[in-house]
Amino acid sequence: MTKQLDLNDYKQGIADLYNRRSQTYDDSKWHLRICQHLVEYSHVSSRQHILDIGTGTGHLAIEAARIVGEGGRVIGVDISSGMLELARCKVEALGLRNVEFQLADAESLNFSANSFDQILCANTFPWIEDKEATLRVWHLFLKPGGVIGIHTPADTAYVGYVVLREIFEKYGVLLEASNRIGTLEMCQNLFVDAGFEVIEIKTEQHGNYINLEQAKATWEGISRPPLAKYRNLSSKLSSEQLVKAKAEFEAKLEALQTEQGVWDELTTWYILGRKPETETLNSRESAT
Ligand SMILES: C[S@@+](CC[C@H](N)C(=O)[O-])C[C@H]1O[C@@H](n2cnc3c(N)ncnc32)[C@H](O)[C@@H]1O
Repeated sequence: MTKQLDLNDYKQGIADLYNRRSQTYDDSKWHLRICQHLVEYSHVSSRQHILDIGTGTGHLAIEAARIVGEGGRVIGVDISSGMLELARCKVEALGLRNVEFQLADAESLNFSANSFDQILCANTFPWIEDKEATLRVWHLFLKPGGVIGIHTPADTAYVGYVVLREIFEKYGVLLEASNRIGTLEMCQNLFVDAGFEVIEIKTEQHGNYINLEQAKATWEGISRPPLAKYRNLSSKLSSEQLVKAKAEFEAKLEALQTEQGVWDELTTWYILGRKPETETLNSRESAT
């Protein structure tokens, strides 16, 4: 019998979204590149035990499995059975025997304490609903001295979201950044509060030109599941205000248009932390 997950509406929305996207997900090399960089920056090495959170079609898990070798082990977890199906096919075709995929919610995992050398999460952390609580749980699974590596877009990423936030702020509505964490300082604090030492933050500058229609489509995206729950705009503004805000949003994007299109900034962070060898009060707690 196929295992089913008991997901709330938000997470079921994510699982459905990726089940639909799974067949074409590997067409773009963007996610693969991010995974390769995260594996490189976190220094995955031979014989390690790695947990890949939101493994998707297994890009990171496969990269890591090649490095850890037969003496190591990689577990990839995801809530999308469609994505995992592809990941399993790829691993089988490659003949990798040290990687396993589990259909599981990253926010309610049940591994033994101190069981992984590294916990890595690429292109997935913004989806996590309760980031603080989840990081604390992952902290438990990591061996003392173990490494956590999270990739996330910066809060300045995605022009549509940036302009949207600016416009809504004028109406007194504060929207989350597209990374749903916020600034680099907020990311660091999140790590420290969960008990990690932040060892390094790598920043990569990416971006590309998109056409005006793509940029404007951000407006529609915010009112569709799964994120509609967080950005329930119709309950925050009257319909007249929404019409006005949309016109202002579009005008601002039009003003940003160049001959090549609208620049879609995609600054990317890799936040690398470590579980201390011996637990002490974290610096933010001890300061209070
Ligand atoms: C953009 S894909 C990233 C996949 C892979 N890490 C990569 O970089 O190619 C995001 C993945 O996170 C998964 N995901 C989102 N929320 C999750 C959760 N709470 N638990 C496990 N997986 C989750 C989605 O199903 C999806 O496969």
